[in-house]
Amino acid sequence: MAGSEAKKSRSGGRQSPASLLRETIPSAPRSNILRPTPPLRCVDCHAPLSTLNENGTTCTGCKRAYPVCDGLWIAQGELTGKNRIAADFYNSERWLRFRPWEQLFLKTLGGLPGARMQILRHLRHLRGGRLLEVGIGDGENVTLLPRALQIVGIDIAERPLAACRDRYPERSLFLALAEGECIPFADGAFDAVLSVGGFNFYSDPQKALMEMARVTRPGGRVVVADELPDLFEWGWGHLLGFPRLDDWLMRRFWLGPEFTDMVINSRLDVRTVAHSALRQPKIYSIWRGLGYCIVGMPPHDE
Ligand SMILES: C[S@@+](CC[C@H](N)C(=O)[O-])C[C@H]1O[C@@H](n2cnc3c(N)ncnc32)[C@H](O)[C@@H]1O
Ligand SMILES: [Zn+2]
Repeated sequence: MAGSEAKKSRSGGRQSPASLLRETIPSAPRSNILRPTPPLRCVDCHAPLSTLNENGTTCTGCKRAYPVCDGLWIAQGELTGKNRIAADFYNSERWLRFRPWEQLFLKTLGGLPGARMQILRHLRHLRGGRLLEVGIGDGENVTLLPRALQIVGIDIAERPLAACRDRYPERSLFLALAEGECIPFADGAFDAVLSVGGFNFYSDPQKALMEMARVTRPGGRVVVADELPDLFEWGWGHLLGFPRLDDWLMRRFWLGPEFTDMVINSRLDVRTVAHSALRQPKIYSIWRGLGYCIVGMPPHDE
């Protein structure tokens, strides 16, 4: 798929967020972007991909093309289900308006960066190697991770991913547009995999966690954190007996109608999903009991 066709199919005919990005966020020099390259795998037929150059790469099996667009590697087709709704939200201005509320949430639940260190402490032992962050967003965790790590990030939304690219021009980040449910890297390619936020509302969290386990080397670590899946039921409206107040606030001010419906109608069983995909997972309570952090190993033997 050529770059422009790829963009069109990703946006399902809507205005391409990538073009919006180019207008709003000046891009930094990118000589170090997409180097070094982790081992790539086709999301369709699972064959290895040819060597990546500045235009992209091709599957050695089914010949699917994976273009490079503005320093981001494109390994994602048209989104469906919750992933499409989430990508629309994170690509929109609404996400920028929601951001301060998220920061306030973290500030009151351990501080900045304390709230994040409640999760990242499980990766403190890493002295080097390669780490994948699924749903990297604009890269809030990058500066808090050991500098010796080679960081690879994937996300379904162009806007935060491009912001991450431009935020760290001095770091060798490999950034790709890709779904957690279809990770475009080879088995065991990473020493650790991290995901912070968004997991509750992935189209298929179990599939995504199995994918994270697949790309983690034997003995490596998978760390996934998010707020409690029913957190919205802890809002003031619910506590005062007016649950529709929370619904209205979310729709009107924070998430918009589509994302709010998704939040209200989703329920993730964190324990079941963790045990189905990982070996000996532990589930820690974080953020004063308002969040969880799954820490486990891939199920394959060392
Ligand atoms: C709350 S933000 C967190 C960003 C960053 N990890 C952080 O800690 O600030 C969640 C991110 O996950 C991404 N995301 C949502 N669903 C995803 C999926 N199925 N696969 C990959 N990324 C996803 C969103 O686009 C968004 O950038
Ligand atoms: Zn293929």
